[in-house]
Order: sequence, then structure tokens, then C-alpha cells
Amino acid sequence: MKKTVLAFSRLSPAMLDALAERYEVIAPSPDKGDLDAQFAEALPHAHGLIGVGRRLGREQLADAARLEVVSSVSVGYDSYDVGYLTERGIMLTNTPDVLTESTADLAFALILASARRVAELDAWAKAGNWRRTVEPALFGCDVHGKTLGIVGLGNIGAAIARRGRLGFGMRVLYSGNTPKPVLERELDARFVPLDALLAESDFVCLVVPLSDKTRQLIGRRELALMKPSALLVNIARGPVIDEAALIEALQAGRLRGAGLDVYEKEPLAESPLFALPNAVTLPHIGSATRETRQAMAERAMENLHAALEGRRPRDLVNPQVWRG
Ligand code: DGY
Repeated sequence: MKKTVLAFSRLSPAMLDALAERYEVIAPSPDKGDLDAQFAEALPHAHGLIGVGRRLGREQLADAARLEVVSSVSVGYDSYDVGYLTERGIMLTNTPDVLTESTADLAFALILASARRVAELDAWAKAGNWRRTVEPALFGCDVHGKTLGIVGLGNIGAAIARRGRLGFGMRVLYSGNTPKPVLERELDARFVPLDALLAESDFVCLVVPLSDKTRQLIGRRELALMKPSALLVNIARGPVIDEAALIEALQAGRLRGAGLDVYEKEPLAESPLFALPNAVTLPHIGSATRETRQAMAERAMENLHAALEGRRPRDLVNPQVWRG
């Protein structure tokens, strides 16, 4: 008998067809009514879940009696209760590596956009304001040759550091759990405590996973350590920053600007951030290129197949549950 897969987001019709060759596939869709209700109805039958963007923990998975694997189409897995999945013997997989370069590109887009006021001046020109040459009040700041502080030098952090060092001649500082001597040699990067990084950097880029240790890592105290001329870029997770404190600092001009891809609550339809010309606000698109989203979905499908067919998935987040 075929196993059942509940595909709850981010798979193309072609991928759903490919899944249907191996499994009974249930794919909730807005055309069929309420998504949560469809999810809840399918859950007790599912051996595998594949998708992203749902909080999945004890409460949500109480009825998932047959569940063997949750294959997330994301690198981050902070929306899953890993402890609970592990306790239940349910495998959790993610999609590392395939989104590293695209996400680093997006971080640099935010660095450049916030430094050179790209979004603000685009809106200004389109509003018909460009009647004479741009005044110094609208000038941006340079990126090349400045100091780039990376909070969390994992794969994505290193890819951002490489762009900064090799492409823009930036001095690279980083903070995190452990020094990375190989990257230090490659990028002439220096490991410093977070407070020193905040005080010395012109651009602070947050690339840490969300955990109890990194929640609200950047609050009022940390923002006050930054230079008023500095820019803060967040491509990690929204709750890494105290968003209210950030908004206050931006409104008061205590910080030059911010480039944000992630927020405390997502999706975000309304926010004081949207009224701030010194905040570039993107709708969580770090990995949202056609190529990368395709690669992520393929990687998640590989993980799902392995788990449901008795092979150890390549990207097993909780290896304790593997009894192969
Ligand atoms: C991830 O994969 O964790 C990114 O935030 C994109 O969803």
C-alpha cells in the first residue's frame, strides 16, 4: 500500500505529480477551502509532511499518528519543535547549502540598497521629485572599504563575508560561538566579541539561526552600541532583534538605517517600519529565486523519499531518531 504524503506548500504542480507516482498525495489548496481545515483533516493519514511556513509542535501534531518524517523546504527549522519530534521518533529534515549563495546575494542587496538609499530614491524619482540634481541631504554612504560585521559566520555568513572582502574590499569582523581560523585566513577576518563588533562595524549583518540564545540578541543596549552612522541588516529571523527598539532607534535617527528581510511576525501587512524611509523592508525573500526555490524543493523531496523508503536522509536535523 502506498504511503501518504501531505504536501502543504512550496511544491510545483510537476513536483506534486512526481510525488504522486510514489505516494498518495494530499495537497491543501485555497481553491478547496480553508487551508488549516484541509491540513487537519489530512494529518492523521500522513506518513510524511513536506512544505514550509507552519508551526509544527506538540499541539499541531497530536493527531499525526502515522507520521514518520517532516521534510522542511527551508534551511531554518525554528518553526518546528525539534524536541517533541525527536521524542516521537519523527525525522525532521531541512535544505542546507542550496540556498547559501542566493541568500548571501540578498544580504548584499540589502547592504547596497540601504547604504545607497536605492528604494527610497527610486520612490522619490517615480513621485516626480527629480527636477534638479540630487541634494546632499539625499546622499547615501559608501560600502566599499568599510567594516562589515557578520554575526554568525556559518555558510551563509561566510558567503556574505566573501562578497564583502573580495568584491568590496571591506574589513571583515565576525562574532559567534567559535573562531573559524580557515575563514580568517581566507578573508582576513577577525573574531571579536559581539559588543566590539557592534561598536566597530559600519554594516552589521545578522545571520544566526533563531534559538533561545539568539532570541532578542539585538536589543536596546546592543543598538546603542552601534555607530549612529551604521546600518543593520537582518536576513536571519525577525525575533533576533527587538523590533520595537529598532523602530525607535530608526525613528530617532540613532541608527542610519536598516535592511530587513525578516520580522517578529510574518507575514507583515502593517508596521511602523513601512513609514520609515531609512528602512528597506523586503518580504522574507532570502532564498526566493526560481533556481534556488526549485533546488530547495528537490532537496526536500530527496529527503522525504529517503525517509519514507528506509534510507537515512541526507539532511537529518535530529539524527537521534535514526534507527537504520
Ligand atoms: C530558510 O530556508 O530558512 C529561509 O528563511 C527561506 O525560507
